[in-house]
Amino acid sequence: MKDYSSRLKSETEAVNTIITEYLPKPEGFQKKLIEAADYSVQVGGKRLRPMILLESYRLCGGKDESACYPFMAALECIHSYSLVHDDLPAMDNDMYRRGNLTTHAKFGEDFGVLAGDALLNYAFELILKAVCGAESDETREVMSRAGEVIAKKAGIYGMAGGQSLDVELTGKPVAAEQLDFIFRLKTGALLEAAFAAGAILAGADAAEVEALTEAGLLVGMAFQIRDDILDVTGDEGKLGKPVKSDEKNDKTTYVTLFGLDRAQRDVEKYSAEAQSRIRSCGNNDFLLWLVERLVSREY
Ligand code: IPE
Ligand code: IPE
Ligand code: MG
Ligand code: MG
Ligand code: MG
Repeated sequence: MKDYSSRLKSETEAVNTIITEYLPKPEGFQKKLIEAADYSVQVGGKRLRPMILLESYRLCGGKDESACYPFMAALECIHSYSLVHDDLPAMDNDMYRRGNLTTHAKFGEDFGVLAGDALLNYAFELILKAVCGAESDETREVMSRAGEVIAKKAGIYGMAGGQSLDVELTGKPVAAEQLDFIFRLKTGALLEAAFAAGAILAGADAAEVEALTEAGLLVGMAFQIRDDILDVTGDEGKLGKPVKSDEKNDKTTYVTLFGLDRAQRDVEKYSAEAQSRIRSCGNNDFLLWLVERLVSREY
């Protein structure tokens, strides 16, 4: 497969520019809250979810990419909030993220909580503003549906639901099917939302949306298993977050349950399955390459 590293760099920069335009400006008496929220998003990150949303839109033949922008920014706000809260002392209690101090370590625990709240709400402000400002009934309809998917996949039936079982079972024995549930929700759900929202905004039919939602879930599984591997074998400098966080917190992970070899084989299996779902919907070699890269990612 062709090497898309330089394209990845330019796409990441393009996504960063889009996100920055949508973030609130730090002013007013709540300036510190906005600064903490802004820091959480701008401090770094691979921007995988907004990038996938856009690439899924392109795969499905979408014609007006600007329709994706508020949804891309919203998804990264939600993802960043999930990281800010995940790092809090009450959850994983980690001090580094995206190569810098975590939000609570820099702004205090109270502002860690509030920055997360603010980012989650702001995401839906962006989405609903786009819905209300839609130029046609057709656009309003697809935007509403994309927003509904993002809401569902971020909440009880998605990321937050997965995180809840993750913390509930910390320090306790975890069955394989419980770990599978946790991964599907805590990590798979936002990736499902990224693929599905892009497809919906592009006007894809129900079969395509379903195939790409499945691709998202499979990418999420590969992504979280690789994350668990990197927590053991990774390099903090490259990862930008601490290794051995799972061991510190006495978490059951894919690696403690199945071992490193099987874990890596399963990353490859899920990634290949995700690629076949993507291929069934059209041509996007860059997106296939992004998914291929999950297998060997170091950060
Ligand atoms: C980290 O996500 C949280 C997991 C789901 C494992 P990313 O690895 O995508 O984090 P950033 O956005 O690049 O910092
Ligand atoms: C959390 O999984 C995934 C989220 C929903 C934030 P982890 O707790 O393993 O993520 P990292 O390793 O801290 O990024
Ligand atoms: Mg966690
Ligand atoms: Mg964590
Ligand atoms: Mg982890």
